[in-house]
Amino acid sequence: MVEDKLNIDPWSSTQSTDYSRIIDQFGLSNFNNLTLPNPSHLHRRGIVFAHRDFDLILNAQKTGDSFGVLTGLMPSGRMHLGHSMVIEQVKWLQKIGGDVTIAVADLESQATRGINLTRGRKIALEEYIANYAALGLDSDSTDVYFQSSRSQVQRLGFQLGTRTNLSEFESIYGFKGDTNLAHIQAPMVQVGDILHPQTEEFGGLRPIVVPVGVDQDPHLRLTRGIASKSNWFNLKDNTGPGILIGLSVQEDNAELLGQQPNGRIDKGKVAEIFNMIVQSLTDLGFSDINSNPKQGTIVVPSATKKDITAIRMKLLNLERKLGGLGLLAPSSTYHHFAVGLTGQKMSSSKPKTTIFLDDDISTITKKIKRAYSGGQSTIEEHRRLGGNPDVDVAYQYLMYFFETDDDYLSEINKDYRNGKILAGEMKQICVDKASEWMINHQEMKAQTQHLTNDFLAGDAL
Ligand code: TRP
Repeated sequence: MVEDKLNIDPWSSTQSTDYSRIIDQFGLSNFNNLTLPNPSHLHRRGIVFAHRDFDLILNAQKTGDSFGVLTGLMPSGRMHLGHSMVIEQVKWLQKIGGDVTIAVADLESQATRGINLTRGRKIALEEYIANYAALGLDSDSTDVYFQSSRSQVQRLGFQLGTRTNLSEFESIYGFKGDTNLAHIQAPMVQVGDILHPQTEEFGGLRPIVVPVGVDQDPHLRLTRGIASKSNWFNLKDNTGPGILIGLSVQEDNAELLGQQPNGRIDKGKVAEIFNMIVQSLTDLGFSDINSNPKQGTIVVPSATKKDITAIRMKLLNLERKLGGLGLLAPSSTYHHFAVGLTGQKMSSSKPKTTIFLDDDISTITKKIKRAYSGGQSTIEEHRRLGGNPDVDVAYQYLMYFFETDDDYLSEINKDYRNGKILAGEMKQICVDKASEWMINHQEMKAQTQHLTNDFLAGDAL
């Protein structure tokens, strides 16, 4: 029997947590071969569990080249702990040198949640951005914008619609004939969100990383596909040694690449383009570059996999010089979802499943005390059999959010497993740490409230 295919639906209220299947099926990479500088607790604890092309970001960081971070928020309800996970990662990426762009998905929220733009703006500023400031995001290298007022994003999304079609949307998102068209437009706007920071107007060509929950991966698959389909020059592993470069002739570049409307080839033009490609690669220092305009290929025999990015960047720059978009497929990182307090998925629309960033201490205490537990049903059994921290919400919340000390965490993990710590005691530890965290957060929020506007880009004021 064929195994059922996993489907990730970004708008669903349920979410697969079969992370190893997600990695396999969608071709994500794990972090095993990468070394992260001063990793955050989310990285150290494997909560950020997978990526696409994150090595591009690390290499830029190492060599001191610029890189960007782009993420988005859908302003639809109160901000809760789950939402703070992306900001923890953004903070880390910002600390290691990334410039940050944040999309307020007010168009998406209007289209998929019925929240009008005025309300979306208010929610974004008061619920989200105010909390981002309190969580320690640095406004100096952060630009927050609204989808509804950044025409370049909408234009790019519209324009790139030529690189996809309904069949692809059906296979990525499971859309059917009765799918609302706003649901079809929202992903295209998100494609615009993700790709626009690398345009000349918004910082120029550089790797951009998108830290998200794995529910957003369909958008990244779509965006990466669209970006590479739009590229004028392709890179492939040569059948022999080296890297092979080919042309991708498309409606918008055919004439430039020497294909005349009457079907004839303009050999002079082709030769000129091939010269330009060779020229653009010279300062990478390869001993040979074999240009074969007749076959339509260029081979760099001594190039290996590790040269691909450098070659790609040169070709994207050349494409831009010639009038193309020159888009680099975005990198991304994915985090596990923290389990909801009740054991279900966290959701703003189900307050019992999560802790909001403005919950008071007695509410938090109550929520944690009632949370799903990994303990045994009697004390006697618990001492004998031990508890299970992997499903114990109190322990999980310490790991995801409140406990900074890795050693202490592994100690209580062990003591819970061997029955030394009881379920009620684990909850109490969590209540104490959560209260401390929240008191600090709410104090910070009061202190940083006046900074909200500093986060806004010029077109968002
Ligand atoms: N779709 C995202 C959500 O539902 C919000 C979003 C819009 C986004 N544009 C983005 C996220 C770009 C990451 C990158 O929360």
